Amino acid sequence: MALVGEVTIPNDKSITHRSILFAVLATGISRVKLHSVGRDNLASLRVARLLGAKISGNLSQEVYALAQSEGVSTDMNCWAKPHSELIINGDGLHSLKAPQEILDCGNSGTTSRLLCGILAGQKFKASITGDESLRSRPFKRVTDPLSQMGAHFSADMLPIRITGGELKGINYFSPKSSAQVKSAILLAGLYADSEVTVIEPSLSRDHTELMLLAMGVPITTSQQADGSWKICSRQVAQLSAIEIEVPGDFSAASFLMVAGSVVAGSDILIKNVGFNPTRIGLYDILLRMGADITPTNKRLVGGEVVVDLKVKYAKLTATTVTAADVVRAIDEMPILAVAAAFAEGLTEVSGAMELRVKESDRIKMIVALLQDYGIKIEEREDGFSVIGNSKGIPSGRSSTKDGSDWSECGDHRILMSSAVLGLALNRKLELLHQEVVETSFPGFKEKFQDLATN
Ligand code: S3P
Repeated sequence: MALVGEVTIPNDKSITHRSILFAVLATGISRVKLHSVGRDNLASLRVARLLGAKISGNLSQEVYALAQSEGVSTDMNCWAKPHSELIINGDGLHSLKAPQEILDCGNSGTTSRLLCGILAGQKFKASITGDESLRSRPFKRVTDPLSQMGAHFSADMLPIRITGGELKGINYFSPKSSAQVKSAILLAGLYADSEVTVIEPSLSRDHTELMLLAMGVPITTSQQADGSWKICSRQVAQLSAIEIEVPGDFSAASFLMVAGSVVAGSDILIKNVGFNPTRIGLYDILLRMGADITPTNKRLVGGEVVVDLKVKYAKLTATTVTAADVVRAIDEMPILAVAAAFAEGLTEVSGAMELRVKESDRIKMIVALLQDYGIKIEEREDGFSVIGNSKGIPSGRSSTKDGSDWSECGDHRILMSSAVLGLALNRKLELLHQEVVETSFPGFKEKFQDLATN
């Protein structure tokens, strides 16, 4: 079975979070046009409303159904169009209200870390929590700099009670390149008495900078002599409202890019893919491996680069992936491991320690997944190495060791990677627990089924 035809993907999860959370703080009416959104983004919508945000709008049937199950849709319309439209009536930077309940961010690291930055600047106390996975992830990376700015946090892991304060500016050397940390500081900076500066080793995704710039915040980004990046921002009287059509998520496209590259005979066109240079590390890595992927119809939508991606099957060869690649492909490492299994030779990934604190310990999960199929993969402290074979996987088998699937792994990107691996080996996509992939990619299975030809 080859994958052939045109396909669309869900909206960019990172940009959607930001468009909801920032529009709430703006002055005036923002309109956010969305196609398909996952549970993580609905967590941002839910907490924004708990903070008193005035959000109305129309949700497509698919998003309406998901939103209802997340408890956010009660007064929103369900309309027959394929896209959703949020109308966010922002009342300014100081318009949020003390929430009457704990802010549950579900599985969403981005919602919770960005919220820490916003709540640091508020005059009320609020508590945030998340699901079991989020409660086990580190928050010291945001509570440290935000405490230095003047906010108070009851703990370094969720649940956390946040007491906002009079914030001062900061010059913060971020030990890791993290867009969540950078964004939390820039958001708190909107309330600080002087400039905030974040210096990070490599430039992490810059959606926050682009959106705040479009909303009138004078943010500057520059590379320093030692290669690190300096981002400066400061307080503003108000944020301008925005109108935005959120592009498709490159991270969602990555599963189709790899599937199209490794399943013989495939030829697909992925429409409307966000192609922000800070996000497309996997594209660069796959090109190095010999993939046949061509961006077409390049355009600018709301300050973000957007393309359509033509993907054709190709024989892949192994490559070496280092820290500089990893920052621009941090969420794509699980699916890269699948590509590596089909690439002739030894693919080595290093500088990817951050994978250990994602929705799961993704290094462990990637290694366990590939080993389950009998593929030769070794765990490293900060990555992994895979021995791949472009003619199939002679060392491997076509099913997991005991025939079970990965549906219960709980991590959306690991589960989608396992589904693509199974598809490439068996020519059939199996996926039992759709709700896990709905975190970021509702309709994942259907998209693949639509592309499948016999
Ligand atoms: C995100 C940043 C990344 C990424 C996550 C989304 C964002 O996390 O892994 O899925 O939207 O800012 P880090 O900032 O922790 O690297």
